[in-house]
Amino acid sequence: MDLEVKPLPPVIKNISVPGDKSISHRAVMLGAIANGTTTIDNFLPGQDCWSTVRCIRQLGVEVKELAPTRLQILGRGLGGLSEPEDCLDVGNSGTTIRLISGILAGQDFLSVLTGDASIRHRPMARIAEPLRRMGAQVWGRENGRFAPLAIRGGHLQAIDYLTPVASAQIKSSLLLAGLFAQGVTSVTEPALSRDHSEKMLAAFGANIQTQDLTTFIQPGPLTAQPIIVPGDISSAAFFLVAGAIVPGATLTVRKVGLNPTRTGILDILEEMGANITISHQTRSSGETMGDITVTGDRLKGVGIGGGIIPRLIDEIPVLAVAAAMAEGTTIIRDAAELKVKESNRLQAIATELRRFGANIAETEDGLRIQGSSAFKGAVCESYHDHRIAMACALMGLVAQGQTIVRGAECIDISFPGFQDTLRSLYIEA
Ligand code: S3P
Repeated sequence: MDLEVKPLPPVIKNISVPGDKSISHRAVMLGAIANGTTTIDNFLPGQDCWSTVRCIRQLGVEVKELAPTRLQILGRGLGGLSEPEDCLDVGNSGTTIRLISGILAGQDFLSVLTGDASIRHRPMARIAEPLRRMGAQVWGRENGRFAPLAIRGGHLQAIDYLTPVASAQIKSSLLLAGLFAQGVTSVTEPALSRDHSEKMLAAFGANIQTQDLTTFIQPGPLTAQPIIVPGDISSAAFFLVAGAIVPGATLTVRKVGLNPTRTGILDILEEMGANITISHQTRSSGETMGDITVTGDRLKGVGIGGGIIPRLIDEIPVLAVAAAMAEGTTIIRDAAELKVKESNRLQAIATELRRFGANIAETEDGLRIQGSSAFKGAVCESYHDHRIAMACALMGLVAQGQTIVRGAECIDISFPGFQDTLRSLYIEA
């Protein structure tokens, strides 16, 4: 599908975005292994989260779709899953394959996990190796480096694991396995990654504590909890940056998740000179949400690196667009993980933004972007990567003439309805 985008006039708009992808995945998985029924409101009906639902159903868990964004998970407890008859297909979802592997490592049966071409080329040794250390048998192509993965679990022993990468997917996989292990499992990461698993596990009654960069979990049962999923700040990011770069625009995104491990984008936009206000804050299951308003000004280039990277890891493609529009140079460092996301995002965003006339170069672990304000519309590619497609669309809002994003159907992975929300910005009130 081609997505056509034209320049956005100065608008003042209020919008909302679908539920948080990370939290939706976790609610389904924890609901499945909890005792009791978990109701999830504002579930993200994106392809990645449906992949999780499909896999969980194949493990014998009943998932009721009460409404398009309201699910009910009939939990089977820690010992209630059953051996799937067929391969579990995670589609494009890294969170599904890595987190569910942690649960499967605790099961005394065989599961085979596969996914699309992107998933089959993303690194899996980062979970396979520690799960093996806990006692699970994990096989995969190239000695467990790549999916398809086969897992036969059970009889796990707790480990203390120091992960080389700050990754919530690795951390969460091991914490989930820790629920089934004998002893206290600990995971230490080099910088704090998103902590939705820790918050939700605590809400479900797990014995879990975090001290600095180490999280400890004890085995034990979970109790079903109602979950209200906040709007996804990673989806909101496209409109927050639009508010920041479209001259004269003010955009408010309502009910967005404000977990501090995810709000690096707000810190950087403020540092770049955008005006940001937050209102109507509420809390649910340990997560905060609120309305975010962004007003544009002339942005200036900044340095982005170190501990803030995990707090904005999925927002680097949109931040590259903000940087392309800023005065001066932006240097993004410590972001080599972007090479192993749904696409090689450093290469993809650099290639695509150049089509608009941006001055952007890929470095070993990031990007160097020299800002400008004169761009021409372009025909660009999505690389089947939802965030690259949306970043290109965002560039189309500030480039002269028409922009076409090819392969834009992948946006449904995380943001069904993106095109309608984008269109709503052009409709006069
Ligand atoms: C996610 C963690 C991040 C992020 C991904 C979702 C999660 O990956 O990029 O989109 O839900 O745990 P890593 O933890 O591997 O960096």
